[in-house]
Amino acid sequence: MYRNSTCGELNISRIGQEVTLAGWVQRVRALGGMTFVDLRDRYGITQLVFNMETNVTLCEQANQLGREYVIQVKGIVAERSNKNKNIATGEIEITVTELTVISEAEVPPFIIENDTDGSEELRLKYRYLDIRRPLLRDRLITRAHINRAVREYLDEKDFLEIETPNLIKSTPEGARDFLVPSRLVHGSFYALPQSPQILKQLLMVAGMDRYYQIVRCFRDEDFRGDRQPEFSQIDCEMSFVHQDDIFEIFGGLIQQVFRKILNYELAELPKLKYDDAMRLYGSDKPDLRFECAIVEMNTLLPKSEFNVFNNIIAEGGLVAGLNAKGCAAYSRKQLDELTEFVKVPHRGLGGLVNIRFQEDGTIKSSVDKFYSEEQLREIGRAFGAEKGDLILLAADKIAKVRRSLGDLRLALAKRNNWIKPGTWSVLWIVDFPLFDKDEETGDITFAHHPFCSPHPEDMPYFDSDPSRVRAQTYDMVINGNEILSGSIRIHQRDIQEKVFQRLGLSEEEREQKFGFLLTAFKYGAPPHGGCAFGLDRLVMLMTEGETIRDVIAFPKTSGGRDLMMDAPTPVEKKQLIELGIQVKG
Ligand code: AMO
Repeated sequence: MYRNSTCGELNISRIGQEVTLAGWVQRVRALGGMTFVDLRDRYGITQLVFNMETNVTLCEQANQLGREYVIQVKGIVAERSNKNKNIATGEIEITVTELTVISEAEVPPFIIENDTDGSEELRLKYRYLDIRRPLLRDRLITRAHINRAVREYLDEKDFLEIETPNLIKSTPEGARDFLVPSRLVHGSFYALPQSPQILKQLLMVAGMDRYYQIVRCFRDEDFRGDRQPEFSQIDCEMSFVHQDDIFEIFGGLIQQVFRKILNYELAELPKLKYDDAMRLYGSDKPDLRFECAIVEMNTLLPKSEFNVFNNIIAEGGLVAGLNAKGCAAYSRKQLDELTEFVKVPHRGLGGLVNIRFQEDGTIKSSVDKFYSEEQLREIGRAFGAEKGDLILLAADKIAKVRRSLGDLRLALAKRNNWIKPGTWSVLWIVDFPLFDKDEETGDITFAHHPFCSPHPEDMPYFDSDPSRVRAQTYDMVINGNEILSGSIRIHQRDIQEKVFQRLGLSEEEREQKFGFLLTAFKYGAPPHGGCAFGLDRLVMLMTEGETIRDVIAFPKTSGGRDLMMDAPTPVEKKQLIELGIQVKG
């Protein structure tokens, strides 16, 4: 063994013992006749001390050490005169008697400390150095602890961890597939799984009853802060369950993880219907760490000549708003910024009407030409407005108003620090619609995936009004992030056929894409359902990372590149020939 102790474990109880440590040189300080070296490993930092008076050669050797050298030392644990109460090993130091340099190191390209001078690009290129920084190291450690807590919980509940293949046939999760060309059958491709969705359903048909897997999924999407081309799911499936069983098991899972990792007791997860989430918060992943709900005004607006509102209501649109509490004193410039925020093309509102309930009891508004003071107060009452509050109103098509006010709500919370650090909002969103309508083509597509079971009581509308059919689909939302999605699946062939038909899939397409699943359902399919947590997102939230890159050992950039390995790159011609592939251009 290179060592008998780690750099994080020695304390006052070990004084006088001889120990051997190995690790990286964090820092060397030569002070008078003494040299101090901070030695670092995964577990912590331990101070080493070399004394000129007792051993000149050893001390000179220590003075030669560079940052990030890997060394081994033997020495005696001694009490420090100058104690550092901030770290576990801060009361002791090692009086070194032997020093071996195991590996020398070049000067690293950036400072390996939490407060580093390296850009993200540079740090991604030298990710193994970046991971030496305590911040990143600790996030990976927490990630491993979360995995362990998940496994313990699911093992205890009789779930079996079963691996599923990575070279499969394309599955319909809505994203683009990564394809792998077959060498043996030119022109044919495997797809990397977007998730093991169909495979886990087949495991239920196979009678495995309770399955889970911490599994890598691959989706060729446009990558953002919370999306990576490959990411991990805690993927689960259960047989003979209803939605409530799923809520109990996986609500329990998240409670257990919070308890073990953050020592935080989460209350039982509340449920919010999709329709209510959209109406009140303009989002299917609302952040409920603060209130500021949307108030719909169509039936509450006092009569006026303000035709912007009147016309929109007449055309079936929506007038709605938010109460920005305590923001009445916003300057013209601040109000203009909010207007610009909702006018950007992807939100597309025409503007915002404001009503300011001033501290002195007077009211100012951008529409005081159209509404009397009493009418403005009436509007204010719908929002519970008090002195100091700012009401912001928007009017347009329903979806646009909701989405924009939902975004505005989040922006206001950020500006005004409405979110208390250390608070959590964890809830279920339930009763999603079964189908989505493509805004441009008007075509009907599946909202989640085509195996989600419709609500039995909505089946009468299946043909007449499909947008009214709710699915037994649910998401878990944590602090405004979609952390889990799942559903009760269709296990009856006739209903599955109906859904495929409604989606406009021909007999041939159905057979070609899902034939194996439909065949399996002929041989006795149990009712089943499940879900998948986005593990990276969960770890990001629990470790206060800013993007999921912060919690993945070797992530890709937002452009999908691996800067460390330099991938993707062209391959040799010979490899392409073997695969029967010719690259154009
Ligand atoms: P879904 O596609 O919603 O469901 O994925 C489940 C969860 O995975 C996370 N997630 C991602 N995380 C990082 N990068 C990505 N590109 C990415 N895409 C998704 C999200 C999401 O909530 N088979 C179904 C689950 C089921 O029905 O059981 C599925 O994959 O946190």
